[in-house]
Formats: sequence, C-alpha cells, structure tokens
Amino acid sequence: MDEEAEFHPLRVVAAERIAEGIHRFDLAHPEGGELPPFTPGAHLRLRVPNGLVRRYSLCGDPADARLYSIAVKREEGGLGGSVSLCDGVRAGDLLPVAASRNDFALSGNPVARVFIAGGIGITPIMAMIRHLQAEGRPPWKLWYLTRSPAQTAFLEELRAPELRGKVVVHHDGGDPDKAFDLWPVLEQPKGRHVHCCGPRGLMQAVRDMTGHWPASAVHFEDFGTAGGQKRPDDLPFTVRLARTGRAVEVPPGTTVLEALHAAGIEVAHSCESGTCGTCRTGLLAGVADHRDLVLMEHEKAAQIMVCVSRAAPGTGELVLDL
Ligand code: FES
Repeated sequence: MDEEAEFHPLRVVAAERIAEGIHRFDLAHPEGGELPPFTPGAHLRLRVPNGLVRRYSLCGDPADARLYSIAVKREEGGLGGSVSLCDGVRAGDLLPVAASRNDFALSGNPVARVFIAGGIGITPIMAMIRHLQAEGRPPWKLWYLTRSPAQTAFLEELRAPELRGKVVVHHDGGDPDKAFDLWPVLEQPKGRHVHCCGPRGLMQAVRDMTGHWPASAVHFEDFGTAGGQKRPDDLPFTVRLARTGRAVEVPPGTTVLEALHAAGIEVAHSCESGTCGTCRTGLLAGVADHRDLVLMEHEKAAQIMVCVSRAAPGTGELVLDL
C-alpha cells in the first residue's frame, strides 16, 4: 500500500506530562466511535508536526476501543521527533496515525511471564500487564528500572494494591554501580517467557543473561527509531548476493536492508531495530558486526540481521544467501 495512504487523522483528546520529561497523549477517532483493535505490545506510527514518522508503543488498555494512549520521552538529543510531539501537540489537535503493528506480542503459552522495563521502555509492558490482569493468567512479575522516582512514568498505577508483590521498581540514580542485578531473576528459565524493553545496554545485558533460555522464550522491543544502530564511524562495504553474483554497495548511514531496497531487492522485515527476527539472512562469507538482539552466539558465523548489522571493520564484503 502507498505509505501515505496508511495514515489517518486521529484527535488528541488528552496531552499531559506524567513524569519528568515524559508526556502522555490519548488519541481518539475524530468522529467518535471505536478504533481498530490492537494487541498488547503493539506500536503506532505517527507523523509528528516536524514531518518525521515515529513509532510509539501503545500503553493503554487493549480492551478499550475508544482510546489509543502513548507515552513519549522528550529526547533533546535526537532528530527532534519527540520534541516536536511533546512541544507542538495539544489536546484538540489532529495527528496522522498509521495502523498498529506488533513485533512484541505475548506469544507462546508460558507458565509465567517476566517483564523487564528500562525507563520509557515501560510503555508496551503497561498494555501487556493490563491485559494479563484482565485475563487473570498466566502469573507475571515486572522489574522496572529507572533513574529516579520523578522520572518514572505510571508509578502510582504500579503501586496499586492489586499489583502488590508483582512489581519491583528500582532507581539507580544514573550510577552504573547501583544497577539492579537481574541474574537471580534470569538464572533459571523455569518455563517462563521474558519480555524486555528499554535502553540498548539493558537489552544487551538481558540477552547475555538469557543465552541458555530457549530462543522463543526471550522477546525484545526497541523503542528507538528504525536504523537506530547507525553510528557516525560506520564504514562503507559491499554485499554480494550469492544467487546472482550481484554486488550492492552499503554506504555509511545506510543499512544493508535500505541498500538492498534501493537496489530493488526486497528482504522481509518489520521492526528494523534488530529485535523481531524477520530479516534473518544467511551469511555465506565475511565477518559481520552483529548489532541485533536476535541471533544466538552459535548462529552469528552463518546468519545476519540485515536491518542493523554491518560488515566488521576490516571486512570489505559480506556474501549473503540471497
Ligand atoms: Fe526485525 Fe530485522 S526487521 S530484526
């Protein structure tokens, strides 16, 4: 479908600051009535006033068809998407919104669910725990790691008496020495699934601590923007497509997925943040700089997630099974 045609205006019915630097927006159908349903863990894409398209996880109740709620951290240092939204959008405005997608669904049938949220990574997990509370099963527990109480969204709600014993909130004051030790939580899989959303460092730590878990039991969501793994010192390299011998150049600032798309070669993809596993591609030669949270250590020599990973320094060419 034409990208533009996917966007439809929704009315901002509430816009409020809910914690230091965090703003909540409630969106409704402009003529009233029900919105298309969403599943816990889903995100919306919306066009903010400065023209950028940004993804935000839905944090409200999936059973409430009248509202879509998002909570947005105002990031000064980014491309300006969150600043444009937080500073430029007020209740009553219309915002162009594309239908929800879910790369972070409550899949499987575990005996319990473990949620690990870092900062604004709490947003998709709020929708998940609202859903599980309504369903009554399976048991779940949340570890919510933030810098300080003032910067913690949904704190009052998570302190509700019915959630007693299910929520651990830890503030580290920004000091790495005070980081919460998740190893006792993750040491034994015990038939559980873990869902983690937060800063890259937290997700990488959880990935490292869950190497012995079944791959299907560990789920990540990157709340950053697509292509967020681009770095200023990235080098150009070539990908060669083994089935045709064709070579495609990948410049700095462009992902392999984007370079292939520009060359007319489509690879199935979804999250574009190295977390969903959709763009998994065979790697036949060359050493990759893996930047995803999907591949297990033993898979890295022969596979690559082309939405984020690149050639390792010193590798001029990667040969892909395409
Ligand atoms: Fe999701 Fe690449 S598109 S991991």
